[in-house]
Amino acid sequence: MKIFLDTANIDEIRRFHNMGLLDGITTNPSLLFREGQNPDYIMEEIASMVSGDVSLEVVATKYEEMVREGTELHDKGNNVVVKVPMTPDGLRACRTLSSNNIPVNVTLIFSANQAVLAAKSGAKYVSPFIGRLDDIGHDGMDLIRTILEIFGNYDFDTQVLVASIRHPLHVVEAARLGAHVVTLPPQVLDKMLKHPLTDIGLKSFLSDWRLLQKSQK
Ligand code: E4P
Repeated sequence: MKIFLDTANIDEIRRFHNMGLLDGITTNPSLLFREGQNPDYIMEEIASMVSGDVSLEVVATKYEEMVREGTELHDKGNNVVVKVPMTPDGLRACRTLSSNNIPVNVTLIFSANQAVLAAKSGAKYVSPFIGRLDDIGHDGMDLIRTILEIFGNYDFDTQVLVASIRHPLHVVEAARLGAHVVTLPPQVLDKMLKHPLTDIGLKSFLSDWRLLQKSQK
């Protein structure tokens, strides 16, 4: 399972990149807005820092503009995957960009049928938003299960990128189902690292080591 970081914060990306944990990055216009800096600067920095796939999203809504904007985004780096929304124009742009060897991530997927259509349009990734489904009383993880089953039935090459992850249990469940990628907010990746018994165990090992040192004097 690949781990992507879902952020436009360069410091957070650098922190986890230095730990060697990142297979890629996903961003979106809202995440870029949160940083309050020049979005082009941020997108270029991210694309050059990380060698794995970096999803950068178009904001155009019409086919021709999506293709133009997507092509420009891809010029920021060979690792750039163009994110397009799950709309008729988005799927058309997905087909064109994919045919031009520009990989596409179809975002804002909320049903299995949308995932099938995106896969048939040549998407490298589909991004089902599980947290937002959970928020309205649906079972987001059930959607992941269904999409993986369908993609397996037909040997689609498209990868399921589990998005809108809210907590570490989402990651465990996605991994048990065999999802290809999870994209995590930095706070979820931080929580995955932590366990109170690790902290307690380390404290006790270090304290015993200090006692041993004293006893040897
Ligand atoms: C994925 O690519 C999206 O950027 C992201 O996962 C959306 O998550 P949210 O529902 O927490 O905004």
